[in-house]
Amino acid sequence: MLRRLHPDQPDTFAFTPANQAWAEAQITKYPEGRQASAIIPLLWRAQEQEGWLTRPAIEHVSDMLGMAYIRGLEVASFYFMFQLQPVGSVAHIQVCGTTSCMICGAEDLVAVCKDKIATKPHQLSDDGKFSWEEVECLGSCANAPMAQIGKDYYEDLTAARMGEIIDELAAGQVPTPGPQNGRYAAEPLSGLTSLKDFDSGHTKYNASVQLATDIGDTVKRIDGTEVPLLAPWGKANASPEPSNANDAPASAPVSKAPPKEAKSKAKPKRSAPPAEEKVEAKQTDTAVPAGTKPALLTEARAGGADDLKMIKGIGPGLEKELNAAGVYHFDQLASWTPEEVAWADQHLVRFKGRVSRDNWVTQAQALASGTETEFSQRAKKDGIYKE
Ligand code: FES
Repeated sequence: MLRRLHPDQPDTFAFTPANQAWAEAQITKYPEGRQASAIIPLLWRAQEQEGWLTRPAIEHVSDMLGMAYIRGLEVASFYFMFQLQPVGSVAHIQVCGTTSCMICGAEDLVAVCKDKIATKPHQLSDDGKFSWEEVECLGSCANAPMAQIGKDYYEDLTAARMGEIIDELAAGQVPTPGPQNGRYAAEPLSGLTSLKDFDSGHTKYNASVQLATDIGDTVKRIDGTEVPLLAPWGKANASPEPSNANDAPASAPVSKAPPKEAKSKAKPKRSAPPAEEKVEAKQTDTAVPAGTKPALLTEARAGGADDLKMIKGIGPGLEKELNAAGVYHFDQLASWTPEEVAWADQHLVRFKGRVSRDNWVTQAQALASGTETEFSQRAKKDGIYKE
C-alpha cells in the first residue's frame, strides 16, 4: 500500500506541556548520540494526542531528535501503526487480513466495516466517528479472526459480533476486548486438556484484557494527563520528587533532561558571548573540550548561505543551529580536519557524534566541488525540504 502524507495538513504541531515532558524523559533512555532511537515512542505519542500523524508533528519530533525530516518521514511512512490521514474520532478499526484470519472469516469482518463505516479503507464514516483498514498479521493468529480497535485486540470475532462492537462504540460504550466467543485466552475451544487446576485464583479476564479493562482507555486518546506519565528513570533529579510514579503531577516534569528553560536556569550565568563564541553556549556538560575549534563566520558570505540541508543528516532545525553557530557554507565543512570534526561533534550540535556519524565532511566536499550526492539528488527531486 502506498503510504503518503495527507494532502490537507494543519499549520503547526505542539505537544501538550505534559506530553512534552514525557517525550523529553523518553529521550533520556538512549545514550548520547543515539537519541534518534526515541522516534517511535515520540511519533506514537504525537499520534495519540492528535489521532493521526500530521506532517508538522513528524517535523516537530524530528527536530526534537536532531533528525532530518526525511528520516522522520521514513519511519512514519514505514509502519502501518502510524496513521498518515485523519481517522475516526471514536475508533479506527484494523482488521487482520493475513492467512489465519483470512481463512477464519476476515473477509466477513471487512464486509461489516464496508457496510457500517465506509466502502473504502481509510475513509471516514459519514458521522466522522469511524474508519477502518485491513492490516497484516497482528500476532493473534490462534484467536483468528481478529481486529485491533484502539489499543486492544478483539479476537474470535464473527461478522455479527463485529457489527455489535461498532454499534456499542458508537453508543459511547467500550466493549470488553479479548476473545469474543467465551474463550479465556488461546486455549482449545473444547476446553483445557492440561493444567486443569488453572481455574483457581486467576483474574476475571486474561492478563492483557484484565489490564485493558482496569485501565479503561481502550479507545481513549492519551492527552498527557494520565498517571504515571513520566518514565521512572526521569525521577532522578526531580524536585520536588514524588513518592512514587503515580504521584507525579502532570505539570511537574521530573525528567533527567528537563525542558530547555529549566536547563538554562541551572547553568551558571555568563556575560553575553561574542558572536564567534556562540557555539560554546551549546555545551551541555562540563567535559574537557576535545579537538580543535574550526573557523566560524559571523554571517554568510556575499551570495548567501549554501543549503546545508542537502547534506544527509542536516534538517531545517540543525541547519538553523549551524548557521547560528557560524557555519553557512559547504566549503567550511569540507575543510574540517579530524580534530575539528572531533570538536564539532562535541560542541556544535545537540547530539554528540552527529558530524562524524553522518560523514558531513565527505558530503560537503562533494557538494562544495559542485558534485551532487545521492542524497542531494533525491532531496531536490522529491522536494523534501521545500519550506
Ligand atoms: S493472521 Fe491474523 S493475527 Fe495472525
